[in-house]
Amino acid sequence: MKLSAPLYEALLKYVEDGTLPYHMPGHKEGRIISRKYIENLAKIDLTEVPGTDNLHDPQGPILEAEKLAAKAFGAKMSFFLVNGTTCGIYAAMSAVLNEGDAVIIQRNSHKSVYNGLILTGATPIYLTPLIDYEDGIAMGVSIDELEGLLKGNKDIKAVLITYPNYYGFCIDIKRIVDLVHKYNKILIVDEAHGAHFAFSDKLPLPASKAGADIVVESIHKTLPAFTQSSILHVNTDRVDVDRLKFYLSLYQSTSPSYILMTSIDLARDFMEREGKDRLEECVNLSIDARNKLNAIEGVKCIGDDIVGKYGINDYDTTKLTISIKGLGISGSEAERILRENFNIQMEMSDLYNILAIMTVADGEKEFDELVKSVEGLLKYKKNQEIRLIDYYPDVPEMKMKPSEAVKKPYTLLKIDDAVDSVSLDYVIPYPPGVPLICPGEIIKKDMVQYIKLLYNIGIKIVGIDNLNIRVFK
Ligand SMILES: Cc1ncc(COP(=O)(O)O)c(C=O)c1O
Repeated sequence: MKLSAPLYEALLKYVEDGTLPYHMPGHKEGRIISRKYIENLAKIDLTEVPGTDNLHDPQGPILEAEKLAAKAFGAKMSFFLVNGTTCGIYAAMSAVLNEGDAVIIQRNSHKSVYNGLILTGATPIYLTPLIDYEDGIAMGVSIDELEGLLKGNKDIKAVLITYPNYYGFCIDIKRIVDLVHKYNKILIVDEAHGAHFAFSDKLPLPASKAGADIVVESIHKTLPAFTQSSILHVNTDRVDVDRLKFYLSLYQSTSPSYILMTSIDLARDFMEREGKDRLEECVNLSIDARNKLNAIEGVKCIGDDIVGKYGINDYDTTKLTISIKGLGISGSEAERILRENFNIQMEMSDLYNILAIMTVADGEKEFDELVKSVEGLLKYKKNQEIRLIDYYPDVPEMKMKPSEAVKKPYTLLKIDDAVDSVSLDYVIPYPPGVPLICPGEIIKKDMVQYIKLLYNIGIKIVGIDNLNIRVFK
């Protein structure tokens, strides 16, 4: 009988089409995963039997592997995660925050941080991102604004910062660590996109080395490991480690995958043995590619021009954020053209940019192919201006906490009829990925007008379906 496994077949087709991946995971279709490991994959997919240890109470090889990871990542202690950085953020927030505690988070945090608010019942205090409207990206935050919030609210228990952002741009993490500790609060860093920082001094400072209390990193995003493999580091005595372990156990499977755990162990080993040299090579090739991309008319690889602005003081050279605004085509159109006509797949696109993630698995060929393909976009140049609306409405009033809002009965309304109602959903336009409305916030008339404006110029908006929104009944 013919194979009938639609998912497997779809994935095989992607691979067999020979599409070059400029996206996660960092091993780039296994290019640098050891053959011996691949051959043994099914065999080592084991369970907790004598000799294999237990993630929920590690005392043998898992503990040993976690200790080696802590040393390699410059952390005090490290914990393997098999459900991505997502579960690490849940555990970090749950370990630190009680119902009703206040936590400062960036308004453009990843969904897992908002989910963490729902799980913990904590009250968010938002730090407004500084938006680079020219490139359509929410960049850093203002340290002065952070200090103002820390000074003004004694209920604050912790601060949660994203470092770097999706595009690789970094705030001054050392200053943030010092500031948060000056006010005796706990700093959690979502370093999902910075697991590789620990292995090169040509990359931004890792948050663990800067002294952040808890740091969560996706090994799968930028290092050679399988999807969902992540790590959580603890670096100070401010964290109640027993409580953290309890929540790590609560949010992870009771049958954690040995494939994922070994993938973390092997990625660390690879980086220590040969990965550092390869990363150095990747950084050099990235810098060279940046220069070549910047020489293409209408194309700009965003980097040095941002440092010193929007709260940014460094960036990850291996993340190539390529602005193609000058070609008069949108990022999503460019992404489609690159896939259909050049057989390369970007990590993502937004209105003005396409993003390529380069890792230790990429060599000269992949860099050359990228530059050549972007050059090929010149053929598709249009004489039109793509424009983002260059202002952002204020954060709406919070009527109830996100954790309360999601449990309320709801009704679906046309957004025009939802004025003064309480939203039970997020409304997030991409770019720049900053929520306009969060669950529990009041929908005002000017916000409805703004949402419709974005909608009518074709901006992708998550949380509204054909301009319908879920509101408190
Ligand atoms: C900034 C940020 N934080 C957290 C996550 C969640 O990471 P993971 O996919 O490892 O669960 C992501 C994933 O895209 C992310 O971009």
